[in-house]
Amino acid sequence: MHKHIWIAAVSLLSIGGAACSDSSTPTPDEPEVTYWQDVAPLFFDNCVTCHQTGGIAPFRLDTYADARDWSAAVKQAVEGRTMPPWLVTADGSCGEFRDSRWLEEEEIATIAAWVAAGSPEGTPRDDLQVPAASEPGKGLEDGTSEILTLRTPTYVPEPDGSAYAKFDDYRCFLLEGETDIQRFITGYEVVPGNDAMVHHMLLMVVDPEGEGAGGKTNMELMRAMDEASPDRLGWPCFSQAGEGVGIESVPATWAPGMGPVPYPEKSGLRLPAGRVLVVQMHYNLIDERVRGQSDSTQVRLRVASQVEREGIFVLPDEFLDSGQSLAPGQESVEYSWSMDFDRELAGLGVDHVDIYGVFPHMHELGQRYRMEFRDPAGTAHCGAEVNHWDFDWQLLYFYARPYRFDRGSRVRVTCQYDTRGRSEPTLPGWGTQNEMCVGGMYLVLP
Ligand code: HEC
Repeated sequence: MHKHIWIAAVSLLSIGGAACSDSSTPTPDEPEVTYWQDVAPLFFDNCVTCHQTGGIAPFRLDTYADARDWSAAVKQAVEGRTMPPWLVTADGSCGEFRDSRWLEEEEIATIAAWVAAGSPEGTPRDDLQVPAASEPGKGLEDGTSEILTLRTPTYVPEPDGSAYAKFDDYRCFLLEGETDIQRFITGYEVVPGNDAMVHHMLLMVVDPEGEGAGGKTNMELMRAMDEASPDRLGWPCFSQAGEGVGIESVPATWAPGMGPVPYPEKSGLRLPAGRVLVVQMHYNLIDERVRGQSDSTQVRLRVASQVEREGIFVLPDEFLDSGQSLAPGQESVEYSWSMDFDRELAGLGVDHVDIYGVFPHMHELGQRYRMEFRDPAGTAHCGAEVNHWDFDWQLLYFYARPYRFDRGSRVRVTCQYDTRGRSEPTLPGWGTQNEMCVGGMYLVLP
């Protein structure tokens, strides 16, 4: 987050002088592009939910003075498509998405023309409505559903030190909550307690009586791991809920930038009675200033007693067990993998699933990302394309129309990384300084 604000401030300073000297007066046949007449309507529609007083963005865009002060950075951000936060291409060339924040080319051209003209004000108006702020913790209510608010304990993470997670602590906690009746999770929101160190969260459903490794129950395994570090809360868990623990599903996943996630079309993930919820927190401590600090993260679940269709969330990444690494010092290194889900679909007793949404995920070296579905006849369908990866904005993207994925189909994911900042090969792994190539998907059963 700080990185971006800093870049914005610098670009503002360096461009500031130039913008004044070339502020041209409009010629009569070229109508002037102004803030109030042309740009403000775009900002109110696409930016002001976050860029307002009390919003999550660090400055406002709903007043002329603020917009003018930030105009050079705004031009750069919209042209580079770093703002509004929306990573997947949504011009129709690769998938069609719900609630897309993708700007049209003409909208970007309007903003650029306004900045090039010296950011003129135009005639003030008061008919534009400031939309409700997107505020952490407020976006999930639909007026009827129940919200369960759970919290991880206040915990001080410590770096693991291993090659796969040098500066990282992966810690699992059992969440307290009622588990006596079956419910469905229809949406969720995660509010990290300490943004500077929380890098992701996975929520997992575990059957405490279910058999884990070595003839022990999952609960016995988790208890033993917890008791192995009596002076610290929770237990270490690089792989899901910890060594040997069998998980039933992953109903929620969170990464930086993600706001509230309502699952579409009355679908939801099953939370059977008698299960426990385990949360895996990933803390990154490469910044020495955060060491010794604590976190307690809020996990808000929207629950219903029934859903029209049941969904599951999957996070496949063939890079992790590939034995491969990324060569250092390269502007572009690619890794691709492909797999089918035949065994999984057979296990679920279905011949197809509908892919409702995708969750592209890489770490900080990621540049570009592509997900492709290939049907049993071999026809390729573009699932997602990211041309400007940004670790700080990781969202779940839902399709306007779900993609039907039949048995015999394959998913192929291609990740491209820039390793010029590394002098050693980068291993796949869980640490933020390792890399991943995850093809996250929200699948809905027929
Ligand atoms: C979902 C919330 C959200 C929306 C919508 C949004 N922004 Fe932002 N914006 C932020 C946050 C948070 C930051 C600071 C952190 C960051 O840069 O990622 C930011 C930072 C910026 C910056 C600083 C430089 C940069 O690129 O990071 C600019 C410029 C900017 N926004 C312009 C815009 C414009 C213009 C729009 C609309 C066309 C827009 N934003 C829409 C949340 C948003």
